[in-house]
Amino acid sequence: MNLLNLANIKKSFYGVEVLHSVDFSLKAGTVHALMGENGAGKSTLMKIIAGVHKPDGGTISIDGKQVEINSPSEARSLGIAMIHQELTPVNEMTVAENVFLGREPVRMGLIDYKQLYKQTSELLEKLNISIDPKVKMKNLRVADQQMIEIAKAISQNARIVIMDEPTSSITDREVEILFKLIADLKSKGTAIIYISHKIDEILRISDEISILRDGSNVGTWKAGEIDIDTIIRNMVGRDLTAQFPKVKVPIGEKILEVKNLTLKGQYEDISFDLHKGEILGFVGLVGSGRTELMNSIFGLTHPESGQILLEGKEVKFKGPKDAIKSKLAYVTEDRKQEGLVLPMSVHHNVTLSFLKNFIRHGIIQSRKEASIVKEQVKALNIKVANVSQTINSLSGGNQQKVVLAKWMITAPKIIIFDEPTRGIDVGAKVEIYRIMCEYVAQGNAIILVSSEMPEAMGMSDRIIVLSNHKYSGELKREEFSEEAIAQLQFKHMVKSLKN
Ligand SMILES: Nc1ncnc2c1ncn2[C@@H]1O[C@H](COP(=O)(O)OP(=O)(O)OP(=O)(O)O)[C@@H](O)[C@H]1O
Ligand SMILES: [Mg+2]
Repeated sequence: MNLLNLANIKKSFYGVEVLHSVDFSLKAGTVHALMGENGAGKSTLMKIIAGVHKPDGGTISIDGKQVEINSPSEARSLGIAMIHQELTPVNEMTVAENVFLGREPVRMGLIDYKQLYKQTSELLEKLNISIDPKVKMKNLRVADQQMIEIAKAISQNARIVIMDEPTSSITDREVEILFKLIADLKSKGTAIIYISHKIDEILRISDEISILRDGSNVGTWKAGEIDIDTIIRNMVGRDLTAQFPKVKVPIGEKILEVKNLTLKGQYEDISFDLHKGEILGFVGLVGSGRTELMNSIFGLTHPESGQILLEGKEVKFKGPKDAIKSKLAYVTEDRKQEGLVLPMSVHHNVTLSFLKNFIRHGIIQSRKEASIVKEQVKALNIKVANVSQTINSLSGGNQQKVVLAKWMITAPKIIIFDEPTRGIDVGAKVEIYRIMCEYVAQGNAIILVSSEMPEAMGMSDRIIVLSNHKYSGELKREEFSEEAIAQLQFKHMVKSLKN
């Protein structure tokens, strides 16, 4: 018998049906992957199981018995735990308080902190996660916050664990820890629903694969009986002609030059230049200093020495405002932390930071504002029912496009993209790549920081590799290969390991 059965599940938002009579079944002791493009309805379906949303129709059964799940706590008591795609840590609280939120050990009516920290230590140790339970959530890296979220779900001893994009921001080493945890859970009979856009991960760990497309379940396969092409074809409902629609653009004059830029411990002695029409890739292992370097170029931090020249003139940005004035834009790695205000509308997110562009004589020109937002929504093909929809109701791909729209309004000449397609499905990725190509074709330039090798190689004209905070080499498009890049990535690592 199936552990979980969904039959005819329907769900609408604002009168638009996003799940159409979805059937889905899950067996104990298996990993069932759920795939689909951004906006296909994966998270919505999972939130129905986790008691976050109520379905408009259909039935849910556990062990063959029909159940109603009216709230997350009811889901928990039915043995369902969910790791949400959008992390929601309580930043001011400690790791331990977050893990046991709402079910803290109590002694004489008060939270027993000693016990709380002890239990959390034991849990993290068992899971092989080395994070201090007493540290505040806000002081953790996103990757660590994600590991804590995973620990929290596992600590509930659930029979069904839903993982919605659990690996979107963790490193390879942490992915291995997670996969071991998943294997343990499986062997204890726990069922896992696993959502990811990373096809290689899916093929590695899942027993069954279901694909959602436009709110319908288009099929369920045994993992061994489906290949990558079939998965993609079923996800997008069409053949993908090219995954990387790179357009050859004439390379123009130098627009940015960085000379011997150094900020000890973050990046050291970095020199490179960027030309109009160019997409310059930056590759390196996590911690190689790429994001730190970009932060300085954008004025978020200040280099100790070295120079940054824009169109031949040296610039010294006091802060990001100066960088924006000089027509730089920075699409950061973490949409949620830096890019977007999730509970606000699409419209406001697009215009928020740049409202002053719309203010004339102290009055916001709302008509102009509205038309610019509309223009961007159309140009970037952002899928929204209406611009007053809140950001957190959009799929990851569409959220990323809203971030882009926000920057496009400033008419930048250089955009720095840091992991622009993280957590975004193949279809939306291709659209973002297409937008990049159009942008450089207009004589602008892009710096593309990416950890996805196919993406860096598919889209860049040149790739600069950083290793251990240092420049380790540069490759032209015709020299690109995974081995060449990997060698450069480790160049300064071996020495530092020996020291
Ligand atoms: N709270 C909400 N309010 C309005 N619309 C919503 C809400 N949540 C989801 N939607 C809409 O429902 C559809 C399905 O979204 P969902 O988040 O389930 O997609 P997904 O498959 O999880 O996508 P992704 O891969 O980007 O996470 C989308 O069109 C989305 O905009
Ligand atoms: Mg989702």
